[in-house]
Amino acid sequence: MTPVDALPEWHALLAHAGTAGRVHLREQFAADPDRAARFAFRHGPFLLDLSRQRLDAAAVERLLALAVAADLRGWIDRLFAGDEVNHTERQAALHTVLRMPAGTVARVGGEDLVPAVERERQRMAGMVERLHAGHWRGYSGRAITDIVNIGVGGSDLGPAMVCDALHDFTDPRAAKLRVHFASSMDGSQLNRLLRVLDPETTLFIVSSKSFSTADTLANARTAREWLLAHQADEALVLRQHFVAVTASPDKAVAWGIAADHILLFWRWVGGRYSLWSTIGFPIAVQVGMARFRELLAGAHAIDEHFRTAAFAQNLPVLLGLAGVWNTTFLGIRAQAVLPYDGRLAMFPAYLEQLAMESNGKGVDRAGRPVAYATCPVLWGGVGPNAQHAFYQLLHQGTVPVTCDFIAPVRREFPLHGIDAVAGEQARRELASQHRLALANCLAQSRLLAMGDVDPSRPAWRHYHGNQPSTTLLLDELTPFALGGLIALYEHKVFVESVLWNINPFDQWGVELGKQVANETLSVLDSAGGAIDDAATAALVAHMRRVLGGEGA
Ligand code: F6P
Repeated sequence: MTPVDALPEWHALLAHAGTAGRVHLREQFAADPDRAARFAFRHGPFLLDLSRQRLDAAAVERLLALAVAADLRGWIDRLFAGDEVNHTERQAALHTVLRMPAGTVARVGGEDLVPAVERERQRMAGMVERLHAGHWRGYSGRAITDIVNIGVGGSDLGPAMVCDALHDFTDPRAAKLRVHFASSMDGSQLNRLLRVLDPETTLFIVSSKSFSTADTLANARTAREWLLAHQADEALVLRQHFVAVTASPDKAVAWGIAADHILLFWRWVGGRYSLWSTIGFPIAVQVGMARFRELLAGAHAIDEHFRTAAFAQNLPVLLGLAGVWNTTFLGIRAQAVLPYDGRLAMFPAYLEQLAMESNGKGVDRAGRPVAYATCPVLWGGVGPNAQHAFYQLLHQGTVPVTCDFIAPVRREFPLHGIDAVAGEQARRELASQHRLALANCLAQSRLLAMGDVDPSRPAWRHYHGNQPSTTLLLDELTPFALGGLIALYEHKVFVESVLWNINPFDQWGVELGKQVANETLSVLDSAGGAIDDAATAALVAHMRRVLGGEGA
């Protein structure tokens, strides 16, 4: 296949970026009174505003032509059909099947995958029911009150982010259950939890697709030892206090987890695309199965839109095209994700993995080094908080950054446990706080685009503007809308990968570090051992001196 950057459509974009890409957003708006409407796209609960991207109609046309030339249509079809789109691992990427409604058909290699997905979901629902009903009991017979998800990466970030975002939607039957997350390899989070949790009433979910991730297994071993320190009957402890969620059930069984406490998912679900599977167990515990299904339905609605809508009206396609335009053609190598809603505080961290583990690649599908920029550095934070932290760089720094402003328009404030009169007053205050956040969202995107250079003011009070941004409004943050929001970004990342001709579904870049860490651990663990790297050897020697009590 012709490398993408040899396509005439690619060169047309390069040429266009050299001219139109230099026009300040202020001038773009002045030249086109319809710009705001022209670049606004409505679908379901979303309004996507791309008018503050440094795009003009010709750029969009050329990007759409590149999408056609790169066979985006064919790639979308192959993704949904279950072809081996992850060719380096000989895997399909069928996360979309996980959110197909029960009763629909997803035939891959002659087999309909939907019934198996639904069966596993029913098993998960059974466990959720036992927990909600207070029937899941610890070794002493008391009902489980605390659930700790032990996992990392995709086995942590997705469920943790969704549980946080949907806290207002907590199932009343889960009111007495608390869901916690422990991911850090060094045990810091777990240690803090173990200090306050009651071993008699704590259930651990060991979430790991591979069931071989060092971080997760280390935390799981610590949890097991903590329980055994309180109850020596290991079989009882393992049975009553551990669930595994994995695509490697043999390893979970070998670890000691009861077969009927193992929830499955499949190798064809990528870790960072897995929250829709049984990896979503903590979500289902917190919000209940009905809302978990609403989350899936929201994602499915976006899948259908992505699969069928014309590219020029297709939200994930447009998001992906804007991403490629910024990174590759305008040379903007940084992206800030800025939710104006504290419930989405973990969304940027979730997107870091989704975007950078997927598209942080430097070779194309044929293994050729690429000569163009791929995934930008992505980070972010709750917008209003970040205004008091890193926005200075956005407004006056020397780095071009594209920003995604995300905000729900409507917001309800369920106030639990506050009496009616005081509650009503507080609710009014919260509603005005929401409007305050929205006003700030609008102010920041406007200022970043338009700037403000008043020559009567000193240079340090000038705002040059022309920092592009996308505004994505949700009517309301519901399970359905959140499912759609996540799916929008999943597909955006896929669209970008197609235009960059890279495989977004593998992550070979993280493998070697695991191997070197194992080798280094054996050196650190033993008194001797050699390391053929001068810097590491010197640091190890220093660590040994400190550990040996000799000081630095
Ligand atoms: O090391 C990266 C990674 O493989 C991620 O892709 C994955 O989400 C994470 O580790 C956790 O993997 P597992 O679910 O197999 O423990």
